[in-house]
Amino acid sequence: MIPKNTVDEIFQTARIEEVIGDFVNLKKSGQNFKGLSPWANEKTPSFMVSPSKQIFKDFSSGKGGNVVSFLMEHEQMSFPEALKYLAKRYGIEVEEEALDADQEEHQKHREGLFKANDFALGFYETELWESDEGKAIGLSYFKERGFTDDTLKKFHLGYADQSFDSFFKQSVDRGYDKALLLELGLVKEKEGKSPYDSYRGRVIFPIHNVAGRCVGFGARILSKNTKAPKYINSPESEIYSKSNLLYGLYQSRSEIVKNDRCLLVEGYTDVISLHQSGIKNVVASSGTSLTEQQIRLIKRYSSNVTILFDGDAAGIKASFRGIDLLLKEGLNVKVLLFPEGEDPDSYSQSHSKEELQEFITDRSEDFVFFKARVLGKDQDNDPQKRSESIRDIVNSIALIPDHISRNIYLNECSKLLKISEQVLVLEVNKIRRKQLNQKAKKQDQRAPAPFPEEFIDPFDPSIEPIQVKFDAYYQEQDLLRLIIAYHDLEIEIDGASKLVPAVIAEDLKVDALSFDDEQNQTILNEVYKQLEVSQKLSLSYFINHTNEHIRSTTVNFLSNPYDLHKWDEKEIYVKDEKSKLKKAVVSSLFSFKARKVDLMIKNLQEQLSAPDLDDDNMRKILKKKSKLDNLRIQIGEKLGRVITY
Ligand code: CTP
Ligand code: MN
Repeated sequence: MIPKNTVDEIFQTARIEEVIGDFVNLKKSGQNFKGLSPWANEKTPSFMVSPSKQIFKDFSSGKGGNVVSFLMEHEQMSFPEALKYLAKRYGIEVEEEALDADQEEHQKHREGLFKANDFALGFYETELWESDEGKAIGLSYFKERGFTDDTLKKFHLGYADQSFDSFFKQSVDRGYDKALLLELGLVKEKEGKSPYDSYRGRVIFPIHNVAGRCVGFGARILSKNTKAPKYINSPESEIYSKSNLLYGLYQSRSEIVKNDRCLLVEGYTDVISLHQSGIKNVVASSGTSLTEQQIRLIKRYSSNVTILFDGDAAGIKASFRGIDLLLKEGLNVKVLLFPEGEDPDSYSQSHSKEELQEFITDRSEDFVFFKARVLGKDQDNDPQKRSESIRDIVNSIALIPDHISRNIYLNECSKLLKISEQVLVLEVNKIRRKQLNQKAKKQDQRAPAPFPEEFIDPFDPSIEPIQVKFDAYYQEQDLLRLIIAYHDLEIEIDGASKLVPAVIAEDLKVDALSFDDEQNQTILNEVYKQLEVSQKLSLSYFINHTNEHIRSTTVNFLSNPYDLHKWDEKEIYVKDEKSKLKKAVVSSLFSFKARKVDLMIKNLQEQLSAPDLDDDNMRKILKKKSKLDNLRIQIGEKLGRVITY
């Protein structure tokens, strides 16, 4: 833990333009700096850094944030890592808050595991390169597979000799704790007998985490005809969780970012061979189907994935379900089928780099189309089968969060499957409504459930109107945007000048109106909190907030309008909106209120139609309703006046 005041000091000292300048070539442009986006291949700069606001905005990728978010995004640092990096750059001393005894014990234990793994990695590497057995057996095996010295070294491949306990003996000599070695699965022990090495007569593939530390091993057998397992892998341990890790990610991550695409293969050898052929944006799931954590790992680096399949088509259909998970997470998925009997490893060994590159670009096919094609193939005029496969493909499409992509897919698939697009659209909407209801049910019952933006397309005519709720999100965002973007401007209300945040916050408070969207309400609460402390909102408080959502929302509000030209012309635009600022604030407030009142009226109407309502209660409700009706008319009039203004 870095103490709060050190964090503040770091934020106050760090200059975003200097820090980013270490990674991106920045040129002065008016008050801002401009450069080529580090996340896109572009020729005209669309990456902006604002020294006055201490934020950056990349108009190509949409990413934006403060200096720490840049380091997290660009260098894949964690939050504390980024802070420490900045502290070092600016000579700020970081005294970490002391850990308690338990935490310290835990930390020491983890460190011990890493150290023992490091030792093992070195041991197996030395065996491979220096021992007679290693050279004769391990090294010649790798050479036969076509791996170069550089490749072997890059992935720290090694060899474990055939002896019973040479590794164990040496580790104990070096003072490594037996319990740690057992926990890491490097040695095994049978009761009453002395411990022995887990990996014997096998080649070793070390497994690294994203930070580059060795967390485990895969040990491959060399002989073909044996009943022993092909691979012995490290067991789960405190530092190794198979479902949370992708083989090769450490070596490939920067290339994945650069190419904005992650290739996904099955095995260690596929990753290594592709690297050797110059294709370096590749990771392996290590033979199992992808987990959600692994998908999220990929998403940190790119949202485009290509899955490379072995030639044998058997496993492909079985993998459909796993791929759906990728779609659901909003990733764009392509698939690439290797020729019968080939896998990425064998193909890279038997083809030139250019052929391989060409094969990957030319033969990759969008997953949804691929699936439609595969399913379309075996419909063989059986209506039952046909409707099954249509349902199957529609289920996949319904998972895709982005509605534009969904529509494109529906259009194409209607052609591929020879079925009317209308039918597909209706089916997808039905599924999505079901998902939506389930999601809403799970959410808090108190407030009307917020409808996440990605779920419903307000302009989609085939979806029943639930627009009232949907609009809420945008109305709330608009109010928050006005508060943040015009935090330092005053408008005249009832003859007095007041800052925009105060006008909006006070108005909402007086009527005790809250936001439906939880995250929006969180930001509003922060505004209230700030206004209690000072008249003026501190922008850096929001830009550097520990809550990532608050940070990124703020930056988005500040880099409004969303396109690049306008950023340059921002002063003009702002002048334009400023002159209409009062109108903007008032109409935003009133449309928000109008909707709130509408909801209340609707609620009362429902109460009125209750079958067991007695006269007394009916009178009460009617009285309330008539008040609200009047209020609604007033709001409507004011809103009308503002709009025609
Ligand atoms: N795997 C495993 N245990 C096995 C078989 C496979 O853990 N008994 C995992 C390994 O991570 C392996 C991946 O599944 O890398 C793919 O399996 P396979 O294609 O059989 O292995 P490769 O590593 O590709 O080895 P080779 O090219 O030598 O066949
Ligand atoms: Mn393989």
